[in-house]
Amino acid sequence: MSQAEVTGTRRDFIHYAAGGVGLVATGAAVWPLVDQMNPSADVQALSAIYVDVSGVEVGTQLTVKWRGKPVFVRRRTAGEIEAARATKLEDLAIDAMAQNANKPGADASDANRAMDEAGEWLVMIGVCTHLGCVPVGNAAGDFGGWYCPCHGSHYDTAGRIRKGPAPRNLDIPVARFTDATTILLG
Ligand code: FES
Repeated sequence: MSQAEVTGTRRDFIHYAAGGVGLVATGAAVWPLVDQMNPSADVQALSAIYVDVSGVEVGTQLTVKWRGKPVFVRRRTAGEIEAARATKLEDLAIDAMAQNANKPGADASDANRAMDEAGEWLVMIGVCTHLGCVPVGNAAGDFGGWYCPCHGSHYDTAGRIRKGPAPRNLDIPVARFTDATTILLG
């Protein structure tokens, strides 16, 4: 990954759901604070939400709240896609299943994790499968994806667990594009 990709403008943690733009912050530790400050009871009650992704630039991540949980919507760089697609299934020793609600029983190849054929969009529930912390994103950890600092779980650029105590890849919720810039969650 180039330095430009690492240091480029990235919104690590933008709460943005149901048409309302919320708070901007960084890192996992702030999630409980955001959670408390946001008038989100109505949002939590919704079983499905539309997410406008028109403002999400390549190499950035939008975090929305859905059913009380953070959901990461990442628009991956070419390098991230390439790294994810170059990974062999046999290297996914901890969890070789896609954990994708849209593709039950599929293997964890990147094509079964990404939203679109080109692999640019990745939508995942932002909750570590170890004990439920919110991993840090934006090319974090040993595999350039997400990192959960509390016990050291490393996820790759497809959100697959590669190292650490987490037993499962980050879960992918029911989601689909309803048009070029809108994702329906749920
Ligand atoms: S909750 Fe993520 S590593 Fe423990």
